[in-house]
Amino acid sequence: MKLTIIGTGYVGLVTGVCLAEIGHVVTCYDIDHIRIKKLQDCIMPIFEPGLEDMFNKNKEHLRFITDHKEAYSNSDVVFICVGTPEKKDGSANLKYLFDAVQQVAEYAQKDCIIVIKSTVPVGTGDKLEEIVSLKSNSMVHFEIASNPEFLSQGTAIYDTMNASRIILGVKSFEVEQVLKQIYDGFGQKYVVTDRRSAEMIKYASNDFLALKISYINEIANLCDFTGANVDDVAIGMGYDPRIGNRFLKAGIGYGGSCFPKDTKALHWLASFNDCELKTIKAAIDVNENQKIKLIKKARKYYESFRGLTVAVLGLTFKPGTDDLREAPSLQNIPILLEDGAKVKVWDPIGMDNFKKIYPNEIRYCNSIEETIKDADLCLILTEWSEIAAMEVSNFSLFMRNAIVLDGRNCFDIQAVMGKNFIYESIGRKVVGQSSDLEENIFNNEKAG
Ligand SMILES: NC(=O)c1ccc[n+]([C@@H]2O[C@H](COP(=O)([O-])OP(=O)(O)OC[C@H]3O[C@@H](n4cnc5c(N)ncnc54)[C@H](O)[C@@H]3O)[C@@H](O)[C@H]2O)c1
Repeated sequence: MKLTIIGTGYVGLVTGVCLAEIGHVVTCYDIDHIRIKKLQDCIMPIFEPGLEDMFNKNKEHLRFITDHKEAYSNSDVVFICVGTPEKKDGSANLKYLFDAVQQVAEYAQKDCIIVIKSTVPVGTGDKLEEIVSLKSNSMVHFEIASNPEFLSQGTAIYDTMNASRIILGVKSFEVEQVLKQIYDGFGQKYVVTDRRSAEMIKYASNDFLALKISYINEIANLCDFTGANVDDVAIGMGYDPRIGNRFLKAGIGYGGSCFPKDTKALHWLASFNDCELKTIKAAIDVNENQKIKLIKKARKYYESFRGLTVAVLGLTFKPGTDDLREAPSLQNIPILLEDGAKVKVWDPIGMDNFKKIYPNEIRYCNSIEETIKDADLCLILTEWSEIAAMEVSNFSLFMRNAIVLDGRNCFDIQAVMGKNFIYESIGRKVVGQSSDLEENIFNNEKAG
């Protein structure tokens, strides 16, 4: 079978490489010529653990091209993995998807299954069916299938090779059989359903996880006021099998290319159908507030950041990825800069991408120690293992005013208790933190 992947981002490239790993020969096409050139030269355009090794192992079975006619003319199955970003009104922008599907319809020379892996609003498959029937020559027959993707960045290879489930939204038994034959090496559970339900499963799943995160973050905010410890609360909740222990880590909110846009897209779709989704709206609102929680906490110590040196540890939206889309760093750093702070940053993977947005305005550091040296405030925005493993006494050793605001609860609360610095996290109070210390820092601040 000739398989073609359209779009070589996090989903497309990982899917292509994993399909090659289970024995398929895969052609990958992208409109981004620079990305394809890199892939032809065996350079990974994205960071994803295990991707490069699996790519190199299977490179004989992978082909990367930029010629759309070549991509579409002879394929049996085309997997569409293009982006579906957010429009200003919150709805999903389907331009890339429509462009790609129109081209398949124009250039395919034999019957072809078009598999939509991109996240798309319910009903998109039906629209695509209309598009292909208008664009194609009547000799070629197309089937549109919905096969939403559930991989997580940072564990994308593992998630694909060990899929929790494969959703097949299909109109015919034949298409179901072909797709099962392709995915056979992944050893997973299938859910076979109609196309609209498959499209809804993706949004309903992502939005539920976003909701779970916003829920624990609201509980954490209440813990801040009441003195309860949200980590223990989450452990206690997580033992209940009806709740489960994942996505209960309190912090400064979710980011990335999926949860923010997928919550907004579903909310938009609901409003469009006069059916308000109040829970999803709440998840969105809570998350917006949560992202700048540390700035609000910092204002307790500094009315203004003018002239202060602020260390930021972690830039990416989560560890294990170089992706900055919707990362809290992109909301916090502009506030610090506008307020006149000198910002120093460190991230093990994300700095090159950040430099494309802020080439000169901030200082990029090679180590955590260099970042916190002489800082008046430290904000932890991503829970990289290097941060969690650092010697916490380094904060008081290196910083000018040791105020550490941990947005990802990186440190065990016991490990920071009684140490010579101010430490605040999300939903966990350090009992016995010296008020003398706070007093000293306020005095320094006034004096400085
Ligand atoms: N990133 C994730 O973790 C993830 C997980 C599950 C689902 N998804 C969904 O999968 C889709 C892709 O996400 P992503 O993160 O891989 O996106 P991405 O932005 O990383 O990659 C998209 C790629 O598609 C290419 N492209 C755009 N238009 C094209 C066209 N007409 N022909 C060929 N290539 C084209 C772009 O150049 C880019 O390389 C989105 O709908 C997303 O919501 C993403």
